Amino acid sequence: MRVYQTSDYQAMSRRAAGIISAQIIYKPDCVLGLATGSTPIGAYKQLIEWHKKGDLSFAGIHTVNLDEYVGLPGTHDQSYRYFMQNNLFDHVDVRPEWTNVPDGRAADVSTECARYNQLIEDLGGIDLQLLGMGHNGHIGFNEPAEAFELGTHLVDLSESTIQANKRFFASEADVPRQALTMGIRNIMQARHILVVVSGEDKADIVLKAFRGPVTPKVPASILQLHPNVTLVGDAAALSKLAVAGEPICG
Ligand code: F6R
Repeated sequence: MRVYQTSDYQAMSRRAAGIISAQIIYKPDCVLGLATGSTPIGAYKQLIEWHKKGDLSFAGIHTVNLDEYVGLPGTHDQSYRYFMQNNLFDHVDVRPEWTNVPDGRAADVSTECARYNQLIEDLGGIDLQLLGMGHNGHIGFNEPAEAFELGTHLVDLSESTIQANKRFFASEADVPRQALTMGIRNIMQARHILVVVSGEDKADIVLKAFRGPVTPKVPASILQLHPNVTLVGDAAALSKLAVAGEPICG
């Protein structure tokens, strides 16, 4: 694992955007696995800025998002489809039909999960998967569990995730209780994984995920077994990892 520590959120975002843009420049027809949540927003802003300056084109890429709430249409302002349109897709030259988010309104969930797995396979797999990390170590919506779920699946959100996400909804009761998410195999088969973390409140889980035992009780811990992971975090999020002696790139 490569670890890049930056001074603050803005520098973290710029560093992560640099890695994503390097992927696009190196392989203009690459497949990007994308994430929502607050952490990647700064990186998306930076990518949009570079695109607007004429330095970066998304015209040849396909995207596959990690997850989507069950029951929300893509037009709902808290759906992950809406998030992606708003924070990235509407501002760059990606082809709309080449952007993919699981369909949280699919009539048949297992057919939708199978379709999503097949889609990733048909695209030739994910070149670069961007990940944020939940306070309980979730990646995508793979919540702490007794076993790792492999493919795209339906998940009941944990209480801590509902609590963390309620800030985006009018009330806690409005937070969807279920989501569709890529599974651990979908994520682990990505050729390169870029994890972004920011803030002191992530310091404990970063240490646990990258220095603790590999266990489905901390889903992100599986990333220790991936041969090509880059972790980009600000000093606050990486503070405990740095104390544990993790070599930091800069
Ligand atoms: C988002 C996702 C989640 C978030 C995680 C961290 O698509 O799958 O796993 O990455 O909840 O969220 P933030 O960045 O808001 O702390």
